[in-house]
Amino acid sequence: MTKKIPDTFILGAASSAWQTEGWSGKKEQQDSYLDKWFKEEQFVWHDGQGPDVATNFMQQYQEDIDLMKEINLTHYRTSINWARFFTDYEQLVVDEAYATHMDHVIDGLIAVGVEPILCLEHYELPAYYMEQYDGWSSKKVVDWYADYAKIVFERYGDRVHQWFTFNEPIVIQTRCYLDAIRWPHEQDTKKWMLWNFHKTLASAKAIAVFKEGKFEGRIGCVLNPEMVYPRSQSKADVHAAKMYDLFFNQVFFHPMVLGEYPEELITLCQEHNIYFDPTDEELEIIKQHTCDFLGINQYYPKRVKAPRFAWNEATPFHPEMYYESFELPGRRMNRSRGWEIYPTIMYDLAMYLQENYGNIPWFISENGMGQENEEQYLNEAGIVQDDYRIEFIREHLAELLRAVEAGANCEGYMLWAFTDCVSPMNAFKNRYGLVRIEVDETRARSLKKSAYWYRNLIETRQLE
Ligand code: BG6
Repeated sequence: MTKKIPDTFILGAASSAWQTEGWSGKKEQQDSYLDKWFKEEQFVWHDGQGPDVATNFMQQYQEDIDLMKEINLTHYRTSINWARFFTDYEQLVVDEAYATHMDHVIDGLIAVGVEPILCLEHYELPAYYMEQYDGWSSKKVVDWYADYAKIVFERYGDRVHQWFTFNEPIVIQTRCYLDAIRWPHEQDTKKWMLWNFHKTLASAKAIAVFKEGKFEGRIGCVLNPEMVYPRSQSKADVHAAKMYDLFFNQVFFHPMVLGEYPEELITLCQEHNIYFDPTDEELEIIKQHTCDFLGINQYYPKRVKAPRFAWNEATPFHPEMYYESFELPGRRMNRSRGWEIYPTIMYDLAMYLQENYGNIPWFISENGMGQENEEQYLNEAGIVQDDYRIEFIREHLAELLRAVEAGANCEGYMLWAFTDCVSPMNAFKNRYGLVRIEVDETRARSLKKSAYWYRNLIETRQLE
């Protein structure tokens, strides 16, 4: 069966600054919190690879831009590296060399007909703020972030017209303070919730700056809702799914799209002593500055069931008090990444957005398939035969197009990622790109089979 892809539907690709740039030209004090983690705990990285070289985008970006042209890509989403944008994080002294690099990237993209979509933060919180101000625990960091946004809009706003304030704003604090699996490994649910709030406030303040400055275009945030499926339709399992949705999805969606927190979440936060005590003025800023549009990152479903054990009052509160993760027997898996493959999430996501958040425009800002040991799929011509990736995209896109036909306000699909790149958890172990990166001193690029397939998709706008 063939599906026609609407002419206005974006088919793009994404990546981020920190995951591609490498440290060429980076000054010692310009670590992001992930650079810091990398330096502290090198052993967690796969094969000794990390952000120090990444894809060496700092020096080889023009090669990527040329490849984008070769496959006729029309939209590319990436981020600005906040940690590298300044040399002083209190006086906000711009690193002219880095800012000029961003000029070149933006101009280079536009020159070949690729629209740049920029995000202000994708794991690039300056380590300085972590060390001196406990990161997003501090309202000063919120204000510095809004000032950073203003400087960036003033510099690039004449050429960039689609902005995101954050990529997956829930992730850092979930890894660092809820699950404590990343540096600084502290379990502190109250801090987790405070960071959630301060990032929502920071996003609203950046949106305010954008609107007050009358910059051309639109601004939103990239969120990563997990479509939650209860194990059964029993009251207890359904309640577990509802609570997961509240703590991990609605916590950002409600304030960022509707302008206020769900009452139930506020009550629960107060009950469990993780409330973030906002001022009336802060709540008003959030109310007045909601997102114009959303990017949605979507990879896998989340399955939950009612928790088996009663929560022990002696342990600090964790939302897991209300749910337990559940693995569906016989599920399809991407074994490399350990994620379930369930393309229906795309349709369900679209319906979830329509039902809960009305007409806000959105597009898929990330979806893709990480694969280990891709060299085994190289053919004699040196082209990775990644049919599994083509299949993955095809299935997910088909579900998304089904949702569009059903009236979803979805504007497009961006694949993660344009090139292979470093992942915070395991560097180059899982390859995601349409473009292969040789992890050697050349960092040579080559199109994979999926890149040729994607080019054909962009040209024909027919999904077979
Ligand atoms: C997304 C992130 O959640 O998942 C990306 O925005 C990330 O930055 C991608 O790389 C894939 O996850 P991972 O952990 O396999 O790199």
